[in-house]
Amino acid sequence: MSAKNIHVVIVLFSLIGIESINVQIKATPAEGILGQTSLLLRCSYTAVTGEFVTGLYIQAKINGRFKSIATFYTPSVPFNATLTTDGNYLSNRVTLTNPTTTSTDSAIIQFYQIACEDEKEYMCEVAYAGSGGSTSASSGVANINIKGNPEEPDREPVYVSSAGIGEDSNVVFTCTGNVDKPQGRFRWVSYRRNSNGATIQETPYESVTTTAVEMQGTCTFNGTSQLTLKMEQLDNNAIVRCQVVYQNIPHGFLYRQTDGINVYYSVRNVQVTMSPIIPTFVEGARPITLTCTSGGNPAVTNTGYTWYKKSNTSVRLGTYICHQ
Ligand SMILES: *[C@@H]1O[C@H](CO)[C@@H](O)[C@H](O)[C@H]1NC(C)=O
Ligand SMILES: *[C@@H]1O[C@H](CO)[C@@H](O)[C@H](O)[C@H]1NC(C)=O
Ligand SMILES: *[C@@H]1O[C@H](CO)[C@@H](O)[C@H](O)[C@H]1NC(C)=O
Repeated sequence: MSAKNIHVVIVLFSLIGIESINVQIKATPAEGILGQTSLLLRCSYTAVTGEFVTGLYIQAKINGRFKSIATFYTPSVPFNATLTTDGNYLSNRVTLTNPTTTSTDSAIIQFYQIACEDEKEYMCEVAYAGSGGSTSASSGVANINIKGNPEEPDREPVYVSSAGIGEDSNVVFTCTGNVDKPQGRFRWVSYRRNSNGATIQETPYESVTTTAVEMQGTCTFNGTSQLTLKMEQLDNNAIVRCQVVYQNIPHGFLYRQTDGINVYYSVRNVQVTMSPIIPTFVEGARPITLTCTSGGNPAVTNTGYTWYKKSNTSVRLGTYICHQ
């Protein structure tokens, strides 16, 4: 075939296209949210003079083939729109609206409860009568994508603490929950806090793995993530947060977190303070107070302190030390 012949063939096809009815299919919005409402799948047609539409089929790609799921009629045929056998899975989740004119109009499937199985390719076929008799024309393909409705993790992060958590021990925190569709993940954050509960250090752990399995009967994913932390003294009273990372949901939402974690650590930072602080004391002068303090969890009780005097000949107070 010469190049010239190809040119002629293309012109012929486009001439037929101009003469013919125009059929379009569109989903609004094109992304449905599981369980939520108001997605319209609309098949529109514009016939030219001399053509009129008799019926219309919205098709969905099921197991690799486009099959009619709903049949629509124009006023020239007095039937209500119906779901076909292949479209039965939509029962009680959609309403169908027939077009009202035979020339320029649309047929509508309104989804009022979106399910995973609505994520499909759709087409529309319009049966019409024209100068050449009865025939049909098809639209292009429209896609409906489904995404989830993200939730918080199932519960606050779980960790084994029955025996108490000692300093330097490794603690595994586990978080599970719906990470949705398209599949999200978990991120972890630990917050070290002072004894008043105010955050003094925030550490995010972004690269901890989330494994996910598709949940039975849904298209969303149940994720699991585990964070291992070596607990230090400063982690006493810290909280550990597990957060769902899903599309553009900002940090600070969709999380669950532990209460303050009790980390046991041995006594340290034993210190004596003296009041009033003056360099020398005159014998028989007013009393001075010595205070012994220490860090430790659990805290040292009063009876846990013993005072010693290094020398009973000197009055230099700095020579007193205290021990737990
Ligand atoms: C069409 O639907 C309406 C409303 O549900 C009903 O009243 C009518 O009988 C139906 N007509 C046909 C032909 O099925
Ligand atoms: C995810 O799986 C865990 C156990 O593997 C289960 O305890 C949890 O309930 C599941 N979460 C959801 C949202 O199904
Ligand atoms: C120090 O105290 C001990 C025990 O109470 C006593 O035996 C000793 O004599 C004292 N030493 C001086 C220098 O006071």
